[in-house]
Amino acid sequence: METILNKETHNLSDMKQLNFFLLSTALLLLSSCLVKKNMEAKDNFVKSFDKPFTAAAAQYKIMMQKLPPDRFPKTYHKAADKLETSGSDWWCSGFYPGTLLYLYEETKDQALYNEAERILKVLEKEKYNKSTHDLGFMMYCSFGNANRIAPKPEYKEILLTSARSLASRFDPKVGCIKSWDSKKPEYLVIIDNMMNLELLFWATRETGDSSFYKIAVTHAETTMKNHFRPDYSSYHVINYNPETGAVQQKRTAQGYADESAWARGQAWGLYGFTVMFRETKDRKYLDQALHIADFILNHPNLPKDKIPYWDFNAPDIPDALRDASAGAVMASALLELYKYAPAKVSSKYYKAAETMVKTLSTPAYVAAPGTNGGFILEHSVGHIPQKSEVDVPLTYADYYYIEALKRYKESK
Ligand code: GLY
Repeated sequence: METILNKETHNLSDMKQLNFFLLSTALLLLSSCLVKKNMEAKDNFVKSFDKPFTAAAAQYKIMMQKLPPDRFPKTYHKAADKLETSGSDWWCSGFYPGTLLYLYEETKDQALYNEAERILKVLEKEKYNKSTHDLGFMMYCSFGNANRIAPKPEYKEILLTSARSLASRFDPKVGCIKSWDSKKPEYLVIIDNMMNLELLFWATRETGDSSFYKIAVTHAETTMKNHFRPDYSSYHVINYNPETGAVQQKRTAQGYADESAWARGQAWGLYGFTVMFRETKDRKYLDQALHIADFILNHPNLPKDKIPYWDFNAPDIPDALRDASAGAVMASALLELYKYAPAKVSSKYYKAAETMVKTLSTPAYVAAPGTNGGFILEHSVGHIPQKSEVDVPLTYADYYYIEALKRYKESK
C-alpha cells in the first residue's frame, strides 16, 4: 500500500515537474524571441539612423569653422544665422570639448580630437575658478573625458585643481556646496549642483584623500533632505541661512513656479542620484533615483514620446514648449539606472530611455545636415522666466544626447 501510494505521489510529482519544465521552456523561448526582436529593433535603429555619430560629427565640424579662436559655442539664432558664443567661464564651456571627444571615440576622426585638444587649452584656466559651482560640468565633462580616453599627468593636475576649487565652496554649517553667490544673507543651492559631484568622487579615487568624497556625500544628504517634495519632484533653489544652515526659502529660478517641477531640474536630480549610487553603492541613493524616475515616467504630463515639456506644470500644456535637453539628460541617466534597478522596473526604464533616444533622433529634434549652426539638436529651453534661450539648440542637449546614444549602443 505504502509502495503504491509512494508510486502515485511520484507519478504526480513527475507530471508536475514535466508541466513545470514545459511551461518554463515555453516562457524561455518566448522571452528569448522577445529579447531577440528588441535587439534586432535596436540594431536596426542604430544602423538605420543614418550613422548618427557620423552625422553628428559632420555638424560639429561645421560648428568648428564658425567658432572664434577663444570662444565656446552657446546657442544659434536661426533667424539671424548667428552663432552665439561665450568665454570659458560660462557654465557650459565643458560640453563642446566633451561632445567632440565622445564623437571622436565613435568616429575616430582625428580632426575632432585635435579641436578638443585646442579648446581644452582655452578652458584650462577655469581650474582656478572659485566663483562657480559648475566646475563639474565645465571640467569633468571635458578634461574628465580627455583623461579617460588618453590619460595624461597634466589632465590629472587640472582635474585635481578643479576639484579643490569646487570643494572650496562647501560650507559644513549648511552641508552643501554653494551654487550661487549672493550679497544678501542667503546661501543658494540648486538641484543642478548634484551634477558636479562626480568630479569629487574622481578626486578621492585618484588621490586617496577622502575629504572630496565626504563633501559629495554630505551635499547629497542635505539635498535629499531639503530639495525634494513627498512625491519626489524637486525644488530648483533652496535658500539656506548661511549662519545656521536652516532652510529659509524653497523656490524656483528657471521653472514655471516655486511649486512646479521644472523638467531639467528633475533630470539633474535623476542623473545625480544615479551617479551617487554608482560611486557609493549606498542603497538609499538608488532608492532616491528610482523614486525620481517614477515621478518623471508616471507623470500624466509626460508626453507619449517621452520628451518632457520644459516644466511638468507649465500652464499651456499641451501647447507648452518641449525641452530636448531635459529629455537627453533623462535618457542618459535612465540608460545607467536601468542596470542597477530591480528586475521588475528595469525594462520599463530601459524602454522609456529607448523612446527618448529614438524621439530625439527624429527630424523633429535632429537638425537637418548643415543647418542649426552645427548644433546636433533643436528645441531646448534654457531660461524661460528670463526669456533667454527659448526653443534653441544648446550644447548640453547635444552632449547628453550623444552620451545617451553611446550608452544605448553599448547596452545589451
Ligand atoms: N544649470 C543650469 C541649467 O540647467 O540651466
